[in-house]
Amino acid sequence: MRVLIDHISKTYTDRRGGQTEALQGIHFDIEENEFVVIVGPSGCGKSTLLNIIAGLLSSSSGQVIFEGVRNDSSPYTAVVFQDFALFPWRTVYKNIVYGLEEKGMNKTEQSVIAQKYISLVGLQGFEQKYPHQLSGGMKQRVAIARALANDPLLLLMDEPFSALDAQTRVLMQYELSRIWEETQKSFLYITHNIQEAVFLGDRVVVLSKRPGRILDIVKIDLSRPRREDLVAQEGYLKYVDWIWGYIKDQAQETLRETR
Ligand SMILES: Nc1ncnc2c1ncn2[C@@H]1O[C@H](COP(=O)(O)OP(=O)(O)OP(=O)(O)O)[C@@H](O)[C@H]1O
Ligand SMILES: [Mg+2]
Repeated sequence: MRVLIDHISKTYTDRRGGQTEALQGIHFDIEENEFVVIVGPSGCGKSTLLNIIAGLLSSSSGQVIFEGVRNDSSPYTAVVFQDFALFPWRTVYKNIVYGLEEKGMNKTEQSVIAQKYISLVGLQGFEQKYPHQLSGGMKQRVAIARALANDPLLLLMDEPFSALDAQTRVLMQYELSRIWEETQKSFLYITHNIQEAVFLGDRVVVLSKRPGRILDIVKIDLSRPRREDLVAQEGYLKYVDWIWGYIKDQAQETLRETR
């Protein structure tokens, strides 16, 4: 399965006819089992693009094409949002099986799938807790397990760790890298954080300031599995510097325009 993001553009029109051009001619693909990261300055259209790929928003032009879909019982996408978006009245277990219940799956099958993803994200022993009883990192583990339990072809993540403290965020990056290795799915991950992008990604798509255009697609040739020692590798900093060069230029242009 390959996902082709085929020349997507998006202009928002408000009720008075005012227009905001958010994205311009975004064109790239996501290969089977590939981890693609999108970085770009604030407001450049990253969430807009993710929502279009998720089918939650229509594009103004261009299309998203899922090629070579073999398992047509799987949804194309599932999304993990920044703000957890868990059901507060449901336990961890009940959050994770929500989509399976909706599908009408029987309870035994639900339980097999739930146990698989509960152990994948390391939540054993927390099945009967409610979201308010969990830390931020654990809530995001639930959100990841819930999304994966639906067996999507592509997992979409919109800054899933940006509400976490710095240490938890780094630990969750290690965890996510491992989860991706174990699931062998395609992931599309949005972040502001360049180190995170290089740590996680097979390729990093760098967007310009609004309207978002692709400035570069950087292939991250670092070995896997990615672990803590990756940041000490010489190549790692070279990638971070390269991407930072683009982001810095964009920020400086924005500053000049607002002066
Ligand atoms: N529903 C909407 N109507 C009008 N304009 C919108 C709408 N949603 C987003 N925009 C505008 O489109 C642009 C891109 O927004 P978007 O949320 O996609 O950016 P982003 O890159 O995700 O930003 P951030 O990094 O802050 O999350 C922004 O200028 C935003 O104000
Ligand atoms: Mg956003």
